[in-house]
Amino acid sequence: MNTFALARRLQGTEEYYFSKKLREIEHLNQTGVQVINLGIGSPDLPPHPDVITTLAKEAARPDVHGYQSYRGAKALREAIAAFYRQWYQVELNPESEILPLMGSKEGIVHISMTYLDEGDEVLVPDPGYPTYRAASQLADAVCRNYTLREDQGWLPDFESLSRQDLSKVKLMWLNYPHMPTGALPTQEFFERCVAFARRYGILLCHDNPYSFILNDQPMSLLSVDGAKEVALELNSLSKSANMAGWRVGMLCGKADRINDVLRFKSNMDSGMFLPLQLAAAQALSLPASWYAGLNETYKRRREKVWALLDQLGCAWNPRQAGLFVWARIPAGWSDGFVFSDAVLHQTRVFITPGGIFGQQGLPYVRLSFCQPEPVLDEALQRIRHMHIPIPENTRI
Ligand SMILES: Cc1ncc(COP(=O)(O)O)c(C=O)c1O
Repeated sequence: MNTFALARRLQGTEEYYFSKKLREIEHLNQTGVQVINLGIGSPDLPPHPDVITTLAKEAARPDVHGYQSYRGAKALREAIAAFYRQWYQVELNPESEILPLMGSKEGIVHISMTYLDEGDEVLVPDPGYPTYRAASQLADAVCRNYTLREDQGWLPDFESLSRQDLSKVKLMWLNYPHMPTGALPTQEFFERCVAFARRYGILLCHDNPYSFILNDQPMSLLSVDGAKEVALELNSLSKSANMAGWRVGMLCGKADRINDVLRFKSNMDSGMFLPLQLAAAQALSLPASWYAGLNETYKRRREKVWALLDQLGCAWNPRQAGLFVWARIPAGWSDGFVFSDAVLHQTRVFITPGGIFGQQGLPYVRLSFCQPEPVLDEALQRIRHMHIPIPENTRI
């Protein structure tokens, strides 16, 4: 058989952790008690019924099945502009400053392929969403981790960064509310980010999919004066509209940059199914009660996840936004990988080891709220019967 060498750009890139782990879980499921997956942040609840109705109604029309505009449907871009105005007090021109995406994950790759050349440096949060690193590597750029620390509220230390040579840094990934730690931004913090990017001529790419989850004050980096000069923002319907599988996201920023990214993206795909775009527009105009209802559910689940973490002897900060709790593993365990495997094999409950988000995540685990309460109760029962020594829990 012929072997075909992988392209160099793939050599530093592994298959995505969850893609591998889900295969292992599938295998375990075939050999006994079903694994309870508290790993992935894929909302289990459906979108609003009006969103489904719009999709079904529009899909029944005969004239909506052709290729769509590369820039996205006007109705969707207008809905995104109205959403940004209503929730973030940010004005965006729907004609030129918005690009609908198939989820924000593809946007991370598009931005990287649009702006990065071999040798360019990218500031990547550690811990942080692994796709920032993978996308930079696919673009042949050099990742430079910036360390986030619990005692600094998981915010970047701009003073320490300013003391380093930043001359080759072209792009910085930022993500608040932060995944996996749940850390929240403040307006003052966003202002500091923009000032830093302006000072060093760095393109700031803010990834903002969690602003509505367990957070009363959704914020956009683009609300900072002058942000559009140096920043792009990604947003997504995956988490806040329960539409992860629909693949709808958006890129917002200055017209020139949207055109830059479109130059790459329009060579990759040929637009999104129109009924899906119209249903997404509907989702973006949902009232505050939609988010309040969602958050009530997540708050009840969070109580149960906290009880589970108590049982595991983990420590966590109760003030976290997003779909997860980020928790420190008990003393005595070498890292979250070993801890997560012990929990998986003894109880068939899967929790995410923090190390997949970077070195700084090693002593942590991340638990998701994307399971119904009875499933969380069952997970707690299983963990109660776990036979590992559990030190006393302390909340941070
Ligand atoms: C921080 C962060 N950014 C982006 C994404 C990808 O979201 P989307 O479904 O919009 O591609 C995720 C998904 O888990 C995420 O956690």
